[in-house]
Amino acid sequence: MSFEEQIKKLEQKTDALDSPDFTVKQRQKGKLTARERIEALLDKDSFVELNPFAQSRFDDFGMDKKKVSGDAVISGFGKINGRQVCLYSQDFSKIGGSLGEMHGQKIISVLKMARETGCPSIGIIDSGGARIQEGISSLDGYAGIFREMIKSSGVIPQISVILGPSAGGASYAPGLSDFIFMVEGISQMYITGPEVIKSVTGEKISFNDLGGASVHALQSGCAHFIFQNENECLENVKKLLSFLPSNNLESPSAEKPCGAKNSCPKLLEIVPDEEGKGYDMKEVIEEIFDPDSFFEVQEGFAPNSISGFGRLGGYVVGIAANQAKTMAGTLDVNSSDKIARFVRFCDCFNIPVINLIDTPGYLPGTDQEHKGIIRHGAKILYAYAEAGVPKISLILRKAFGGAYIALASKELGYDKVVAWPSAQIGVMGPKQAVKIIFRKELEKNRHNPEFEKEKISELSETFLSPWQAAKLGKIDLIIKPQETRTVLFKLLESLLNKRGNKIPRKHGNIPL
Ligand code: HXC
Repeated sequence: MSFEEQIKKLEQKTDALDSPDFTVKQRQKGKLTARERIEALLDKDSFVELNPFAQSRFDDFGMDKKKVSGDAVISGFGKINGRQVCLYSQDFSKIGGSLGEMHGQKIISVLKMARETGCPSIGIIDSGGARIQEGISSLDGYAGIFREMIKSSGVIPQISVILGPSAGGASYAPGLSDFIFMVEGISQMYITGPEVIKSVTGEKISFNDLGGASVHALQSGCAHFIFQNENECLENVKKLLSFLPSNNLESPSAEKPCGAKNSCPKLLEIVPDEEGKGYDMKEVIEEIFDPDSFFEVQEGFAPNSISGFGRLGGYVVGIAANQAKTMAGTLDVNSSDKIARFVRFCDCFNIPVINLIDTPGYLPGTDQEHKGIIRHGAKILYAYAEAGVPKISLILRKAFGGAYIALASKELGYDKVVAWPSAQIGVMGPKQAVKIIFRKELEKNRHNPEFEKEKISELSETFLSPWQAAKLGKIDLIIKPQETRTVLFKLLESLLNKRGNKIPRKHGNIPL
């Protein structure tokens, strides 16, 4: 038999083609097939499939009749915009995309290749979870995947794209990745499905209400990005990658640095002078950073904070900000988690961080205390203090208490802190402060309302003004709002070659 005939025979044994029936079914659900997803994501003709002949070794419980070449997952490597990625795409048309021993080995193999070659890994998940018929071997398949992902954490960007069910322990592969993408009406992620929940607790809930895209984007905070359809979702995976380096030894790809000469006159209109008046911090971001470059992460979760990637004069930066129009930009348990994790990612992958600060502080109240604001708030402190990338803070208006420490204190390790003249820095707001330090005097002057006003004004002038902070060297520069873009660009460029010295240790113990 000639080589060509032999190859043809082998190809017939593989399930390289989707069955037409299944393709129709997927279309009806608005879904692509496993192979189409790879084609949509990768540069044309760049995909090289690995282990297409791998097959289950198990026969029990009807597996002898269900075996398929490739074992229900397509894996390999290819390119996105000319840069290598390793990826796998689970095939729900075959044994529900369930993960058996060989399926697991194929995924482990591409994850390992991604780490060893220093390129991002992408998992496209559409699976019923651990293959029940393969018992402990399925579970160990997951264990191996999780171990690979943990080894790769901070070495390469790891992305999970959930395009179907991600059921059971399977949900921890996304859970361990840096970013999770989901699609409304198509993606579902849960550790136990509605059937199990009903039998254990009696609670009735639909798949979507339990673990649909919106639930994870708005409530649980597990999803970083949600989209309306698969093509839009896959396009945005490419967009995210355009901000990231391939691994921790590289810098994020800069577009040709173009400088940032133009001023931002609109900032004066966007940010009101009047204290307590809200505004949209996203408009501030649009004005300061390169036009249309902002790519928001976890948009729907903890909307009192903002995190995302952008460009400043061509350089990639991570942007963390308080959203002044939502809960006055206070830090609560969820926004603490959101910002801390974002900063950790930026630090892993050499992405400088710029903070835009306007917050009255950590959110007070029994609810937050009992939810563990101390434990969660500590994550921000830890993440910023440990981050060795360039860190710049701009204080627009308020920076009070713990939030000042976490987001702008040079003692915590910020490289440069700049403020607008409207900045206010203090242990707490002046109204609250006066009630504490002048409690007895206020009691004596309870018939003189002017007394309290005077003290508030004195305290504001003495402590809150950015000039006071600048005199003590706590602020490097006080700048006009119109100069913000230019100044931040110059500071960023001056810090790009920053080198940090870390004392050797096994690892710290971040408050998790
Ligand atoms: C083996 C599975 C399977 C699984 C689905 N299938 N899940 N086979 N092991 N885990 C098979 C079905 O038997 C069926 O085969 C085919 O895939 C399609 O499944 P359907 O149920 O017909 O599809 P659908 O109605 O769309 O429902 C999809 C589903 C459902 C919601 C995902 O299949 C489901 O609930 N599966 C189990 C999900 C789950 O609880 N997984 C957790 C496993 S435990 P046929 O031959 O009929 O077409 C786990 C622990 C791991 O993951 C721990 C690691 C740390």
